[in-house]
Amino acid sequence: MNKSNVSSDQGAKIFLQALNKQPLNRPPFWFMRQAGRYLPEYKKLRKDTPNFLSFCYTPALTVEAALQPLRRFHPDAAILFSDILVIPDGLGQSVRFEEGVGPVLEPLRSVSDLSILEPTRVLEHLEPVFESVRTLAAELPNDIALIGFAGSPWTVAYYMVEGRSGQDGSIIKAWATEDPDGFQKLIDILVSVTTAYLLKQIENGAEVIQLFDSWSGLLEADQFERWIIKPTREIIAGLKRVYPDTPVIGFPRGAGTQTIAYAQQSAVDAISLDNDITPIWARDHLHSLCLVQGNLDNQVLRSGGEALERETMHILETLSEGPFIFNLGHGILPDTPPEHVIQVAEIVRSYSKIKS
Ligand code: CP3
Repeated sequence: MNKSNVSSDQGAKIFLQALNKQPLNRPPFWFMRQAGRYLPEYKKLRKDTPNFLSFCYTPALTVEAALQPLRRFHPDAAILFSDILVIPDGLGQSVRFEEGVGPVLEPLRSVSDLSILEPTRVLEHLEPVFESVRTLAAELPNDIALIGFAGSPWTVAYYMVEGRSGQDGSIIKAWATEDPDGFQKLIDILVSVTTAYLLKQIENGAEVIQLFDSWSGLLEADQFERWIIKPTREIIAGLKRVYPDTPVIGFPRGAGTQTIAYAQQSAVDAISLDNDITPIWARDHLHSLCLVQGNLDNQVLRSGGEALERETMHILETLSEGPFIFNLGHGILPDTPPEHVIQVAEIVRSYSKIKS
């Protein structure tokens, strides 16, 4: 790796070993949103490119952003720096990121609006993302795995239909309930382009895929089966047909007890847990079904101190007997002191499952 001073101990990738269910002396770790605004060096890098999507399409910047957290605390995996909303942008929907608001999209509200989408232009439009993956794969130290990602169809559709964050989902739920066949067309487009997009990420060097389903908690039972589990299963089938050995981690945020059905039916290799799920419940109900990843509370991480140490140890003690990757329950908050992140990294790195 030439652009940085990220050190490598030339070790094997324990992140991949964990996903292959190999026994390890300590669990691997990384943090959702480990790159981003809590790091002063990210803010500095981002300052000259106010348009966030332009930033996402500039490989020199995204590679640097993905490497920054590695220099701070050497996690066991790096994640591609991009955003889940490059898919609607690639499809030709208007997407912009407003300071203090977040993403703002020109919303799609019915099946007739789908005619503006151009699935055939997506891969070409997202070529800079693949270049980022290629460069990162070449530059990463030998012991750090590379995670590629996308949003799950339901969560990407949430933004495409609602138009922005923080909505209660009533518009997308009304469409999915009142015109399921029409809404299915949007989901089918997203399954198809997301599969192609992720195949390209793997082809260019991503070793693991994470599917973010940040809004899966809006749905119950049969709706959850149709709009969360089934599209996830279809994407994974498309990936495994070509790359049977590439693990997929799902993040069905807010799914609660439906996480069990997700583990049994979606074909994910691992589940990233949010903070509604306690480590003890995960150990008792999920560990026999699949590897779990999680789930330190990002607010505890921000606050630091003794609570941070206690929570980190509780998660390690409860979950690291089974197949486990240490992470957060949701992304690092922007006002988190980087020292707290480093503190947790040190605790996990020095944790040993072999008690003396
Ligand atoms: O380090 C990493 O985790 C990799 C990069 C990454 C980003 N977004 C960068 C980003 C990843 C994996 C995402 C995923 C993502 N994006 C999700 C799923 C995970 C989750 O948080 O639930 C969602 C829902 C989005 C959509 C999105 N992007 C929102 C709602 C926002 C605005 C809110 C916010 O956090 O700013 C973004 C912007 C965004 N994506 C930023 C970053 C670093 C902030 C942009 C900036 O101002 O610099």
